[in-house]
Amino acid sequence: MKTAYHYPLRACHTFGMDVHAERFIEYSTKEELQDILAHHLTAPWLHIGGGSNLLFTGDYAGTILHSAIRGHEVTAETDDEVTLRVGAGEKWDDLVAHTTAHRWYGAENLSLIPGEVGAAAVQNIGAYGREVKDLIVTVETVNASTGEPRTFATGECRYAYRSSIFKHELKGQYIVTHVTFRLSKRPVFHLDYGQLRAVLTQTEAELTPEDVRRAIIGIRRAKLPDPEVQGNAGSFFMNPVVPRARYEQWKEDYPAIPHYDVDNERVKVPAAWLIEQCGWKGKTWKRAGVHPHQALVLVNRGGATGEEVIELAEQIQASVKDHFGVELLPEVYYI
Ligand code: EPU
Repeated sequence: MKTAYHYPLRACHTFGMDVHAERFIEYSTKEELQDILAHHLTAPWLHIGGGSNLLFTGDYAGTILHSAIRGHEVTAETDDEVTLRVGAGEKWDDLVAHTTAHRWYGAENLSLIPGEVGAAAVQNIGAYGREVKDLIVTVETVNASTGEPRTFATGECRYAYRSSIFKHELKGQYIVTHVTFRLSKRPVFHLDYGQLRAVLTQTEAELTPEDVRRAIIGIRRAKLPDPEVQGNAGSFFMNPVVPRARYEQWKEDYPAIPHYDVDNERVKVPAAWLIEQCGWKGKTWKRAGVHPHQALVLVNRGGATGEEVIELAEQIQASVKDHFGVELLPEVYYI
């Protein structure tokens, strides 16, 4: 267990703000976590993962908890699939590198998403037509009040687009310690999202998970800023899901409006497109800005405060509301 005071959070999140936590505690086993919960933790506290979805608006006057539970083990294997139990503190993309190197299919579309395994299961990370819920078998947790372990089957996690029971009904009540994933040993690819199929040079028969991983990494690097170079938290807002009738109305004015069908009644429209139509792409506000290649990504142009980013976000929300009558909801947590 590691404990530190007045701890700099710059390396613990991706937006690059110079903020501190009053106290920082990191643990490496479930038992250490239970000991912290029983004897060392006082409110307020906040459990973070890789900090790739957080916006700090100032110093944190409490305890930041972080998991360093690492490692993965194969817990079951057949000719068709493999089941892998992974520590919540593992880097998500290290896990994808591992699964693709073993030619296990399923995680490759989620390559290069920043963050850690525990947060991935809370947030239901998604990209290129896949979501992590498609791979999850169980989520092992500890009850933050009692220290009791509890395992959730995927069906109990209420997974939806960027959402789970851990973000809503049970927010702050359970801490994820391990996640078990099921991957296929037989080829199953999902290549129909955006430009993915177009950038692949192999035929589907000769394709490996590593080829898909390489392609996704190429696409992401071309349009998403590297947080090591320019602070950001990936998509700042969620893509709004609107009634189909509303989408049909927009389509009359904008015949090329992109969309994904959710079901018969609902359509998801890229927030990036709405923001770009409102003229925000590439714009700067104080020391914050809108990325010139992906309008959904707000960036720290150097020295920005959380407040400056929120001011920019609020102007964008007001503009999109004015123009399109739709409310953009932040995907990023304001702390
Ligand atoms: N578009 C614009 N302007 C832009 C960027 C995009 O009009 O500046 C339009 C284009 O028509 C494009 C469409 O929006 O085809 C969708 O863009 P993109 O494929 O980049 O995906 P997105 O909907 O903006 C979502 C996820 C990303 C994920 C990508 C790829 C959310 C909130 N974001 O973005 O996830 O990587 O799809 O699957 O669902 C994240 O959550 O942090 C994240 C980066």
